[in-house]
Amino acid sequence: MRTEFRQAVLPKELRSLMAFDRKVFSEGDIFPPAYWKACESWWMLIDGVKAGCCAFQRDIDFQEDLHEDGWNPVRKGSLYIATTGLLPQYQGRGFGPLMKAWQIAWARYHGFSRIITNTRRRNKRMIELNTKFGFRILRTTPRYYAEPADATVVMEITLRKPSGLHKNK
Ligand SMILES: CC(C)(COP(=O)(O)OP(=O)(O)OC[C@H]1O[C@@H](n2cnc3c(N)ncnc32)[C@H](O)[C@@H]1OP(=O)(O)O)[C@@H](O)C(=O)NCCC(=O)NCCS
Repeated sequence: MRTEFRQAVLPKELRSLMAFDRKVFSEGDIFPPAYWKACESWWMLIDGVKAGCCAFQRDIDFQEDLHEDGWNPVRKGSLYIATTGLLPQYQGRGFGPLMKAWQIAWARYHGFSRIITNTRRRNKRMIELNTKFGFRILRTTPRYYAEPADATVVMEITLRKPSGLHKNK
């Protein structure tokens, strides 16, 4: 099995990102084109097939749930993971942990000191996966989502600074 993470090329792959989003999110949590353009998106390719996708915003703190006009402030060193998704046939097979480990490695490699993300309260799988990787719940904000209505669970992980290379190896 060959696994690869490749950045999505915009605007060329916008339609592909949106089609993927529709296949993964049945509940209508679909990003509009402008939002994809504001993110840096990454494919997870399994044997060349687009099996997963995630989208980041650099130096952003997620606070949309706290402000009525829904904006996210700049916060240096904070990586916001706006979405993480696998096609249904790749779910529950170990690829979620693989993508989560890669996200954390990517963030550390690029010098981020924390990751923030959010998901539906009903999404036990995502919450459980984040928890296993060391994320903690910052807050739960009711009525963030519509169709169906749900709270959002905001999760954060603080990342250690790279310790530098060992000279004796
Ligand atoms: C969320 C997602 C990325 C998780 O990846 P995954 O590989 O399917 O996740 P896993 O099977 O490893 O499940 C993670 C953990 O959640 C828990 N879990 C799994 N199914 C569960 C369920 N139905 N209910 C509660 N907890 C569950 C388990 O603890 C599991 O770990 P374990 O198998 O080691 O015990 C993937 O399922 C997905 O893409 N879902 C659709 C999109 C989505 O909801 N994205 C998140 C919102 S941004």
